[in-house]
Amino acid sequence: MSERKIASEVAPVITIDGPSGSGKGTVSRLIANHLGWHFLDSGALYRLVALAALKRQLELDNESEISLVARELAVEFKVDSSAGEPQILLEGEVVGSEIRSEACGNAASKVAALPAVREALLARQRDFRVMPGLVADGRDMGSVVFPDAALKIFLDASPEERAQRRYKQLKEKGMSANLCDLLEEIKARDARDRNRSVAPLVPAPGAILIDSTMQSVDEVVAGILEKYAKLD
Ligand code: DC
Repeated sequence: MSERKIASEVAPVITIDGPSGSGKGTVSRLIANHLGWHFLDSGALYRLVALAALKRQLELDNESEISLVARELAVEFKVDSSAGEPQILLEGEVVGSEIRSEACGNAASKVAALPAVREALLARQRDFRVMPGLVADGRDMGSVVFPDAALKIFLDASPEERAQRRYKQLKEKGMSANLCDLLEEIKARDARDRNRSVAPLVPAPGAILIDSTMQSVDEVVAGILEKYAKLD
């Protein structure tokens, strides 16, 4: 087994970054499950900060107040052995599908553009790095949070394909959705995430680019596991 994979003290990390709807959440969970590693859904942290800010009726550009929320937020992820979504608790209360709504995703993208909020979440994210390893899903996992990751992936797909996937997901959850609106929202969110001054959504140095537009989840997962197995 290579040194990159098992450093003596530090847990190995695979980072999977990309825009929303690229499939990185599902792919990351399946890889973590396959390897028996921990999983960090960093987008959920930004969504929880946004939700807490909305509940406290804070303006979404109130950097000092929202960074305090990010620093002090009581969050717990309860994982089970299946590759399903973990149960999330915010201030001791179970958070349901409300953090997965488009409104919460858009609010998350706004609070995520505030440098003090990102700074407040940095150490919290690094705390997830424990043995035997971590799969970290987000926008800046490979570029900022875990720059020494063993394997960095940048997963992308066309905006049209991502809107389709999101539409299907929402419909399956019984939520209302409009494909044209979703496509517009995805494009607006992409622009905000890619163009912000701090930790923009860009492939990390050394990241391997995978376009999942024409690939199934299983194909993407198998490709990443193969790349990890071949590391030396
Ligand atoms: O992955 P997601 O859609 O749940 O993320 C929600 C928002 O949070 C996304 O628009 C950008 C932001 N985010 C971020 O800026 N950095 C991360 N590491 C994860 C998410």
